[in-house]
Amino acid sequence: MRILGIETSCDETGVALFDSEHGLLGHALYSQVELHAQYGGVVPELASRDHVRKLIPLIKTLLSDSNTKADEIDGVAYTAGPGLIGALLVGAAVGRSLAWAWQVPAIGVHHMEGHLLASMLEQPAPTFPFLALLVSGGHTQLVDVKALGKYTVLGESVDDAAGEAFDKTAKLLGLGYPGGPAIARLAEQGNPDVFHFPRPMTRQPGLDFSFSGLKTSVLTTWRAQVDKNKQVSADIARAFEDAVIDTLIIKCRRALKLTGLKSLVIAGGVGANQSLRTGLLAFADKMGISVYYPRPMFCTDNGAMIAYAGYLRLAAGESEPLAFGARPRWSMETINDNK
Ligand code: KG4
Ligand code: ZN
Repeated sequence: MRILGIETSCDETGVALFDSEHGLLGHALYSQVELHAQYGGVVPELASRDHVRKLIPLIKTLLSDSNTKADEIDGVAYTAGPGLIGALLVGAAVGRSLAWAWQVPAIGVHHMEGHLLASMLEQPAPTFPFLALLVSGGHTQLVDVKALGKYTVLGESVDDAAGEAFDKTAKLLGLGYPGGPAIARLAEQGNPDVFHFPRPMTRQPGLDFSFSGLKTSVLTTWRAQVDKNKQVSADIARAFEDAVIDTLIIKCRRALKLTGLKSLVIAGGVGANQSLRTGLLAFADKMGISVYYPRPMFCTDNGAMIAYAGYLRLAAGESEPLAFGARPRWSMETINDNK
């Protein structure tokens, strides 16, 4: 079974071909980062228009680069939500239309399910059940993953997502967008002992997160600096990154103890953070837990994770009617409700 995957939920146009026998045949990504950088964040209408311009040429290139003809494709998977509604509708419209033209089934995929399953594209791949730490620009969740579609959110952010906190802190320090990679680069030059920020919600029980207070601590500290030089911002970036990573590790450890699960899967853009990976590996090693990551490129938005999640759902016999929709908000726990 060969599936074309399409991702257009935010500011990356991602396409990929997944084959059940040969694995990933190809993938391509066009990032709109430069387009949005001048505005300091994603401008939804510009994102939709750029997806319109880039998606079909990207699919054509993908098919020719992976020597695949249209009649060799058995299904089309597109991101149906959550995300920016206009951007989602571009992928949904193109995906559905191609499926109709090629007379193959199409399936709308939950973006976060794509992230959740992305590490299954790697070797060794995790097997169900596992605990997932989903850390992206819009979500911070600990998910008990029992099987495909059987997801229980054990804890999540009550305010900003981890990636959002990286982006806002980067903006504050004048680092531009997207903030995660910029903070991570700067933090490498930072001294970890100069500043210390709180590890929010780690003293009380529970698995929820809160990152907006951390952002305020950074703001207060930054404003109090008389000389706002490069080293000061590097030291702040380091203390901020350490606080986020420590908090994520504390909650992962707690969730693993609570569930008794032995595998931890990291997913979402913040999962590309090298210090987070190193920190999680170190504690998991001590606890006898196996940790699984997608390659950094598949932590952030991409078409491969959508092709793969779509393949699993189509292979399980799922299909959907010709009409399609898109959902800017969509709880992962309700994915199977209408099936
Ligand atoms: O999963 P993703 O590509 O998009 C969403 O679904 O939101 O995640 C994007 C987020 C952004 O907030 C970005 O700043 C963050 O992931 N990010 C990082 C790193 N690379 C991307 N955060 C920390 N360290 C990184 N290396
Ligand atoms: Zn994402």
